[in-house]
Amino acid sequence: MNKLCIEGNKNLYGSVVISGSKNAALPILFMTILTEEKIKISNVPNLTDINIALRLLVYLGAKIAYKKILSIDTSRINVFSTPYDLIKKIRASIWILAPLLARFGKAQIFLPGGCKIGSRPIDLHLNGLIKLGATINLKNDCINAFVKGRLKGKYILMEKISVGATITIMSAATLAQGLTIIDNAACEPEIIDIAKFLNTLGANIIGAGTHKIFITGVLKLNGGNHKVIPDRIETGTFLVAAAISKGYITCHKTEPKHLKNVLSKLGKTGAKIKTGKDWIKLDMRGKRPKSLNISTSPYPGFPTDMQAQFTLLNIISKGMSTITETIFENRFLYTSELIHMGAKIKIQNSNTIVCHGVPTLSSANVSCSDLRAAATLVLAGCISIGVTIVNQADHLIRGYDSFPNKLNKLGANIKII
Ligand code: EPZ
Repeated sequence: MNKLCIEGNKNLYGSVVISGSKNAALPILFMTILTEEKIKISNVPNLTDINIALRLLVYLGAKIAYKKILSIDTSRINVFSTPYDLIKKIRASIWILAPLLARFGKAQIFLPGGCKIGSRPIDLHLNGLIKLGATINLKNDCINAFVKGRLKGKYILMEKISVGATITIMSAATLAQGLTIIDNAACEPEIIDIAKFLNTLGANIIGAGTHKIFITGVLKLNGGNHKVIPDRIETGTFLVAAAISKGYITCHKTEPKHLKNVLSKLGKTGAKIKTGKDWIKLDMRGKRPKSLNISTSPYPGFPTDMQAQFTLLNIISKGMSTITETIFENRFLYTSELIHMGAKIKIQNSNTIVCHGVPTLSSANVSCSDLRAAATLVLAGCISIGVTIVNQADHLIRGYDSFPNKLNKLGANIKII
């Protein structure tokens, strides 16, 4: 799916079923390396990043069976290094390091890839593992890690909040000797889901979802089953689709409590929002949104993965607004493409843009820089006047399960070229 042809001027309405969370499923797949017992995981989204993660597990020696439910058996893992071409495709591959190290005492993995939204360092991951007793050498883009005997539990104060590093340290600590405390930990719902999965296998993790996580190491983990939480960013993306197209959309099989901040912001744009146990409905029929200042921050703040989608909402809203990105240093690349479509955006400084709302956008030939930018440009194409061509659209299938099909069922007209 490299190019999409999108007919504009659509109102999007109807129901959409939300898939499993990419950012919970990816780390959970790699956490299966921690145990030699069989695992079954359901609600795994169908994404290229997931397929790459499964290929990496098979490369290490895991046995995978994937019908509706994903069965993983990592009892016969006998490879402790990873292929450059696969590792480089996804940021999530960094989460192979800690489980290999914790279970086998050694690991050799290349530095990960991931969206070009910033430098994406891994110093917090490596420093945490060193504090737990690992020896780590970095040479020619490759991390060589080993530990004699078991990792040792420690108090670790994170110098900055990092989802990835919190996951790395939490996973390593499950098999370490003694108590590990992660202070200033990330609180994202995905971390709670990973901790729930690991505790199902017999780990002893308390406090996930708060800034202080306590992990008491165990000698080994068992098998178990887990259902991945819904994708809160996919949900937010479809709610913005309704808000920008004067439409109304109900997201099913989702978790409203994971989107409190996003829902409160959407409410302030004038959207009518109703929620139930596992559904959220947004109604913006006949209304143009009011613009809103946004500043991204770690959970429970406004998610950086919704920044681009909210910029799109602001550029077609009434009034002026600012968007500040505090997590990644280079996450505004997509704005040049929106300007191409008639948006009025000014870069105020390295991490703030100013938007002046315009009533309509015009179609254009645009290119995607990362997966959230790709989703945003597709939505821009759905509402602009004319036919938009979105290039490098394969970013989409990295993070959104059947996005064009789901949008077409809501009244869009998207063709894969
Ligand atoms: C995860 O990335 C998500 N990716 C991102 O989603 C999400 O935007 C991010 O968390 C939110 O913080 C996956 O789950 C696969 P971080 P991650 O560690 O773990 C700096 C998407 O669109 N940092 O929380 O890489 C880092 O540069 C993706 O689905 C260090 O300095 O993010 C950033 O400024 C994009 N050193 C900040 O911390 C480190 O060792 C937060 O990064 C690690 C991170």
